[in-house]
Amino acid sequence: MKKILFVASEAVPFIKTGGLADVVGSLPKYFDKEQYDIRVMIPKYLCIKQEWRDKMNYVTHFYMNLAWRSQYVGVLEMEYEGVTFYFIDNEYYFAGAKPYGNIYEDIEKFAFFSKAAISALPSLNFRPDIIHCHDWQTGLVPVFLNDSFQDNPFFQGIKTVMTIHNLKFQGIWDMKTVKDITGLNASYFTPDKLEAYGDANYLKGGIVYADAVTTVSDTYAEEIKMPYYGEHLDGLLRARSNSLRGIVNGIDYNEYNPETDKFLAHNYNAVNFRKEKVKNKTALQEELGLNVDPKKMMIGIVSRLTDQKGFDLIAYVMDELCQDEVQFVVLGTGEERYENMFRHFAWKYQGKVSANIFYSEALSHKIYGSCDAFLMPSQFEPCGLSQLMSLRYGTVPIVRETGGLKDTVQPYNEYESTGTGFSFTNYNAHEMMNTVRYAERIYYDRKREWNKIVDRAMAADFSWNNSAKKYAEMYDWLAG
Ligand code: ADP
Ligand code: GLC
Repeated sequence: MKKILFVASEAVPFIKTGGLADVVGSLPKYFDKEQYDIRVMIPKYLCIKQEWRDKMNYVTHFYMNLAWRSQYVGVLEMEYEGVTFYFIDNEYYFAGAKPYGNIYEDIEKFAFFSKAAISALPSLNFRPDIIHCHDWQTGLVPVFLNDSFQDNPFFQGIKTVMTIHNLKFQGIWDMKTVKDITGLNASYFTPDKLEAYGDANYLKGGIVYADAVTTVSDTYAEEIKMPYYGEHLDGLLRARSNSLRGIVNGIDYNEYNPETDKFLAHNYNAVNFRKEKVKNKTALQEELGLNVDPKKMMIGIVSRLTDQKGFDLIAYVMDELCQDEVQFVVLGTGEERYENMFRHFAWKYQGKVSANIFYSEALSHKIYGSCDAFLMPSQFEPCGLSQLMSLRYGTVPIVRETGGLKDTVQPYNEYESTGTGFSFTNYNAHEMMNTVRYAERIYYDRKREWNKIVDRAMAADFSWNNSAKKYAEMYDWLAG
């Protein structure tokens, strides 16, 4: 039996700000339980809903040195859908209204969390063969593990994996402060270790010290070795390319299933979507105050509103696109300029554009289960889960060919009648617009073709089964 501990800053169903939570919360369910015991450790944020907090059981607590400070570490535990979750408690660090706040606070918060995660292990009755770290918040785990913990035989031989879900966020702060916070010896703060461009960099530490590095799609694994996508770490990633691989994300096919989804007004499947799915569209049009018209092409967007997701392209051509026979339904929160942009278009094109500037799991499912198409013109996209959810619900993705979008959406080819969506290559607003308009033409003028795209989209398999096998292979190889 191989034992693996995921350490991460978010996991569904407890706390989620993006796709990271979906991955960390769902992937562990998809391993062969006879061979792999996969557990998950996240912070016990005060903003985790009370109903979950009430179900956690106390395991232990102790005090841990973090540089010159001595800090309380509580450990709680809960089993959910067959997976054991551990929660690290410290009300000073994890009290915020959201998991992340100011970077200078987060820098200390996640140094604490990373060290606490390792320190808690001896009291858990669970010695992992591998600690699987996710994103910069846990980048210091391989670093700390390499440090003073090696004096204790318990920790010797534990391997680490660092998975990059988004290279843009690295956890960068000045070296003096990070030295002071972490208590790590000055020898760690050199350009071959934690230092990058004069600052300390948590993710870099993780990449340097982890035994294996992965990211969430093949294309992104290649892209980040080049300057354009490499976020200044492309040199390091080239140097580590023998230990770096891409494993594409899946989604939870039980959670995201149009046949059983409790948020949908009408459930449907790959056989009856032609008649049933449109009922969700009219229900959503009514709910959101859009013009009710079952024939109108409805395009969805569910996203963090950041520049990563290509909203600058949308800003550029939205007026033009709104002259077409289409409706837009947007759900998202994030940067104010994008929030206001969509509010503006909803005001300007009433009945055509619906801007929902908040977070709602229910509405997200309704959008995946109602729209005809889903627009995701990302500037970069390590994997992307929204397009996978769209495929699963027969909502045709329109994407830019980057990262995981390129690996998971097969562009429509009208001559061969293949493809599961529409895509364009360059980060260019008119290229995007032409692609949306091409999709409109197929939708309105060649409905049978459109429905065949939907057939193929719904038949694509992005459940976790395949990718969980690849992680398992990697664990086998690492843990011997
Ligand atoms: P990222 O992790 O970069 O945000 P992904 O596509 O991997 O992008 O994952 C985004 C996840 O967050 C999806 O599950 C998506 O449905 C969800 N999501 C994003 N914004 C919202 C929102 N406002 N309300 C509900 N779910 C959202
Ligand atoms: C990040 C990426 C997204 C990916 C998710 C889960 O948030 O932006 O592309 O799907 O992590 O791996």
